[in-house]
Amino acid sequence: MKRVLAIETSCDDTSVAVVNSDFRVEALSSLSQDLEHLPYGGIVPEIACRNHTMHLLSLLDSILKKSDLKWDDIDGLAVTNRPGLIGSILVGLVTAKMLALTLKKPFVGVNHIEGHILAPFLVDADYQPPFNLKYPFMALAISGGHSHIFWAERECHYRLLGRTLDDAAGEAFDKFGKLVGLGFPGGVRVDQEAKKGDPKKYSFPIALHEEGNLDLSFSGVKSAALRMVSKMTEEELLRERPHLCASFQEAIVEALIMKLDRAAKKVKAREIVITGGVSANSRLRDRAAQWATSRGLRLAIPPVRFCTDNAAMIALAGLIRMNRKEFHDQTLGPSAEAWPTDFLMS
Ligand code: KG4
Ligand code: ZN
Repeated sequence: MKRVLAIETSCDDTSVAVVNSDFRVEALSSLSQDLEHLPYGGIVPEIACRNHTMHLLSLLDSILKKSDLKWDDIDGLAVTNRPGLIGSILVGLVTAKMLALTLKKPFVGVNHIEGHILAPFLVDADYQPPFNLKYPFMALAISGGHSHIFWAERECHYRLLGRTLDDAAGEAFDKFGKLVGLGFPGGVRVDQEAKKGDPKKYSFPIALHEEGNLDLSFSGVKSAALRMVSKMTEEELLRERPHLCASFQEAIVEALIMKLDRAAKKVKAREIVITGGVSANSRLRDRAAQWATSRGLRLAIPPVRFCTDNAAMIALAGLIRMNRKEFHDQTLGPSAEAWPTDFLMS
C-alpha cells in the first residue's frame, strides 16, 4: 500500500494525515479544542464530539488541497476506533467508513495507543528516527488518557509490562494544574512554572515502589498535593507555586524513570521509546536522556507534533496493519477500551 489517509478523533483533537510507504508524513493537520474546554477545567465529551462534527470534513478537504493529493492517490483509510471517548470516536469512524464505502477503498480501525507506540518511526522534513530503531524495543506511552509500558517484541506484538492503576500521568498533571490555579490543560503550564521552582522543596510520595512492581499510580501524589494546597492561603500558594510544580513534576518523572529502569532490566531492553503528550515534558526529556546514557541505552522521543494526539501515527499503524492484510468491514464499531487481543499480557 503506497499511501494511507487517517482520521483521529478519539479525544479532543481533530486530526487528519496522509502517510506513505516510507513512513513519510505527506500531510498532517490538527485542530486543538483547548479553548472550548478551558472554561470547564477539563475535557467535556459532548463538546469534544460536537467540535469534531463541525471541523472534520473541512480539515480533510484542506489537507488534500494543501498536499496536492486527490482521493485517487489514497490507497487505504485508517481510523482510531479504540480506546477513547465513544462520541468522539464515532465522528471519525463513521466518516472513515463512509469514505471507504463511497471511494471503494480498504480501511482498518486502529488502536490509538498502538499509534503512540509507532510514532517515533514517522519521518518528515524536520524529523527522522534518531537511530535505526527496530524491534524489540520498550515503549512508555504516556498521555492524558493512558500510561503504559510495553515491550514491543516484533511488529504488531506488544506485551504490556505495566500500566497505571488509577490516573494517567497527563491526567495527574492536568488535575494538579487546575488545583494550583494554572487552568487547563495543566501539563504544559506546570512544566513552564516548574522551571522557576525548586524540585526539592516539597516531598511527594512515589507509589508502588516495592520491588518488581512495574505498574504506576498517581492518585497518591494527587491527594498529597490536595492536602498541601488546602492548607495554604492564596498568597502562599502564589508564592510557592513554582516550587510545588517543580516538586510535583519531579515526583512524576522519578516514578516513570524508576519503572522504566526496572522494566528495561527485566526484558533486557536496549532501545527505548517515550511517546504520548506527557513526553513533551521538558524535565522528563532531560531526565530520560540522562538515564538512557547512564545505562548505555538508545532513546527515541518523537517531536511534540508526533507525541501529542495526531493522525499521522494512526496512518502509520493503519499502513502496517493493512500491509499485513488486516482490514475491517462496515460492521466495525467504536470501543471505549482496547480490545483484549490488542496487547499481550505478561
Ligand atoms: O497524547 P495527548 O495529546 O492526548 C491524550 O491521548 O490524552 O496527551 C495530552 C496530555 C495532557 O494531559 C497534557 O497535559 C499532557 O499530555 N502534556 C504535558 C505536557 N504537554 C502536554 N504534561 C506534562 N508536561 C508537558 N509539557
Ligand atoms: Zn493519545
